[in-house]
Amino acid sequence: MSSYEIAVLPGDGIGGEVMPEALRVLDAVAGEYGTSFTFRHFDWSCETYRETGRMMPEDGLDRLRDHDSILLGAVGYPGVPDHVSLWGLLLPIRREFDQYVNLRPVRLLPGVTPPVRDKQPGDIDFWVVRENTEGEYSRLGGRQGEGTPAEMVLQTAVFTRHGTDRILRYAFEFAERIGKPHVTSGTKSNGIYHSMPYWDERFRAIAAEHPDVAVDQDHIDILCARFVMSPERFDVVVASNLFGDILSDLGPGVTGTIGVAPSGNINPERRFPSTFEPVHGSAPDIAGRGIANPIGQIWSAAMMLDHLGEQEAGAHVVRAIESVLAAGAVRTPDLGGTASTEDLGKAIAAEITG
Ligand code: NAD
Ligand code: IPM
Ligand code: MN
Repeated sequence: MSSYEIAVLPGDGIGGEVMPEALRVLDAVAGEYGTSFTFRHFDWSCETYRETGRMMPEDGLDRLRDHDSILLGAVGYPGVPDHVSLWGLLLPIRREFDQYVNLRPVRLLPGVTPPVRDKQPGDIDFWVVRENTEGEYSRLGGRQGEGTPAEMVLQTAVFTRHGTDRILRYAFEFAERIGKPHVTSGTKSNGIYHSMPYWDERFRAIAAEHPDVAVDQDHIDILCARFVMSPERFDVVVASNLFGDILSDLGPGVTGTIGVAPSGNINPERRFPSTFEPVHGSAPDIAGRGIANPIGQIWSAAMMLDHLGEQEAGAHVVRAIESVLAAGAVRTPDLGGTASTEDLGKAIAAEITG
């Protein structure tokens, strides 16, 4: 029997509401596959910051290091500036554990009506591969001439050869592995002088190593329009940290709700634990009402199972999500229904255990 130690960080807002549903589904599927999980709970959040002045203890990263995976809800809540909370918890985890791939599926699920007309499940089914440790997310730069008419802020983006090549290689290899040998890259080489032409150059070099993979290189602006106008054209979309962030909200938006979107922050070499978390944030506007959609968190747990080598269990969870949505009786308000977070989590767990 395989057993796994999972660090569980619900974080802020609806993180604490959707996480129990993912744990419920993991327990349900574990029973079916003879797997066991030990969940170690860490209650680090903006509340911790208000009490201690830190988002996590000084040895926080070390306390996470020896887990098989990290399951995270959402970080950030009004009252603590976002750049403080995120650079105090989520972003250090991604960087310390070299989770340089942020893998985010975009899929139109059965029973969900998309805001774009005439799309069926199968029409929208692609993956965003987002660079997750460098690029535009950087602390390099600073403020000069504060308070003077010459005040200015510089923010430097970092694109290393190592960081660029490894995410591009991952995208090509992933496309081959899932049997969809087609990679689209999104950049802004017409406006951004150094980094984006560099990314394009490395994209062409890595593409040359994979002659059987079809490629498209789009400017990020028209790529956004194409996500809406012709989402069928995409299989694997690779982009820098910021562009990947934007695309991975836009994609689920086109499928009808951000509430279902999962992600894996992956260290492919497995030298460190990977983190699985929904794409969405802490949703302060609906937090505390028990109506958040738990599917993004549950599907993230399914991606975790896949990463841990429990592919059958992961696929079982995704099938259960699809069956419950296709049946249509249990939907949270973002899907047009009146079910609670717990109703939907329980329905998916029950679908698994029969
Ligand atoms: P958000 O994703 O929290 O919310 C955006 C909108 O989507 C809101 O209207 C919200 O109600 C809705 N929504 C999100 N998740 C939902 C769900 N599961 N079910 C139903 N509706 C859902 O984005 P935001 O408002 O820009 O950010 C709020 C806070 O979360 C900020 O502090 C932000 O920095 C943080 N954030 C954290 C993460 C993360 O931890 N990975 C991701 C995004 C935002
Ligand atoms: C995400 C989030 C984070 C990001 C923020 C909260 C720093 O938007 O996981 O997509 O941009 O990476
Ligand atoms: Mn985001």
